[in-house]
Amino acid sequence: MHVREGPPPELGGAWQDWLRAARRELDRTPRASDAAFPHVTEGGRWRLLPVDARSGWTGDVYDHGNWTAGFWSGVMWLAALGTSDRQTVEAARSRLPQLAPQASDTTTHDLGFLFYPSFAFGRASGLLEGSALEPARAAVSSLARRFNPRGDYIQAFGHLGEQRSAGTSTIDTMMNLPLLWWAAGRGGDPSLQEVARRHARTSARVFLREDGSTYHLCRFDPLSGALLHRGTYQGASDASCWSRGQSWAICGFAWAYAATGEPELLRTADYFWERLPADGLPPWDFSDQDPAAPRDASAAAIAALGVLLLGELDPHDARRRSLAGRGQALLGQLGPSCLNREPQQDGILLRSCYSKPHGQGIDSATGWGDFYFGVALALTTQRLDLATLVGFTPQQG
Ligand code: GLY
Repeated sequence: MHVREGPPPELGGAWQDWLRAARRELDRTPRASDAAFPHVTEGGRWRLLPVDARSGWTGDVYDHGNWTAGFWSGVMWLAALGTSDRQTVEAARSRLPQLAPQASDTTTHDLGFLFYPSFAFGRASGLLEGSALEPARAAVSSLARRFNPRGDYIQAFGHLGEQRSAGTSTIDTMMNLPLLWWAAGRGGDPSLQEVARRHARTSARVFLREDGSTYHLCRFDPLSGALLHRGTYQGASDASCWSRGQSWAICGFAWAYAATGEPELLRTADYFWERLPADGLPPWDFSDQDPAAPRDASAAAIAALGVLLLGELDPHDARRRSLAGRGQALLGQLGPSCLNREPQQDGILLRSCYSKPHGQGIDSATGWGDFYFGVALALTTQRLDLATLVGFTPQQG
């Protein structure tokens, strides 16, 4: 593993602030008896979504259902790594039985978001016993079953094989793959690595534009595997670049690089950084140039994590330093501007945007923003190492 340079001191302070905010989350959000989890804030308070809220179509609107329930335990595992507090470990563990039944959900690709931060990261961090992993194994199988070998992609939306959903693939799936990479890396069926690798290669081929920006949603003919359409679901238009989609790509392809060592997957970070406003807060979609446009701090945190991963993996010293520097500088901006220091408000990372076109979670904290921001801070302040994060031995360039 490459030797890392120490982070700027202000990031140590941001990590401590993140831990304090995580402690507040532990003290007030949800009780073990409530089978609902923080999703996005509305008016400064968490909207608690029932864990079994299923995804599905209502007319042309697709509801992702509860794809965020795993992040709460992920935040608690991270906080426990930072504090060694037993109560925090117990809190993370206590919510897992509520998540477990979702492992057999056949309506979503978001099994990675549900089961990686909660079960896989808990195990990789040494805080969850191996004997507790059966639901994660079931989730891995459910996710792998969504792979369509005709188009080499994992079906994103809807019931397996359901006609209107069978051809869907989104860029977000790249960040569901960490569950498969983790399972493959700990001696799971080798076909899991192959499914993840083939999906990643397809995503690099169909989602990336020439300029390094990404489409959000692609549609295939599920029978022939032919690509039919490239566009968006949560972005401004089919031709635009949804900023969180871009950050899922940056981080998801970096993770795929850790798992495969295939550098051709890495083409997305420059586009993001070239368009990042001076304050480090991307607009929800890069085509929305209105200064009043909602920003998405969660996209910034995810992108920062992506370049920090590359800042450890890239074979060239100068590039490693430059990538790590980009990630650290961005985290250094998010700390003062978006880290919640107000005890009366819920959430840790504020100023994020779930879905502007659907009017949801505008100027919010989000479960995923809280988690990935914490992961990025823990990684760069060396409270967490890369192998522990991903749960396998990373390929070094
Ligand atoms: N569906 C994942 C996201 O909104 O980013």
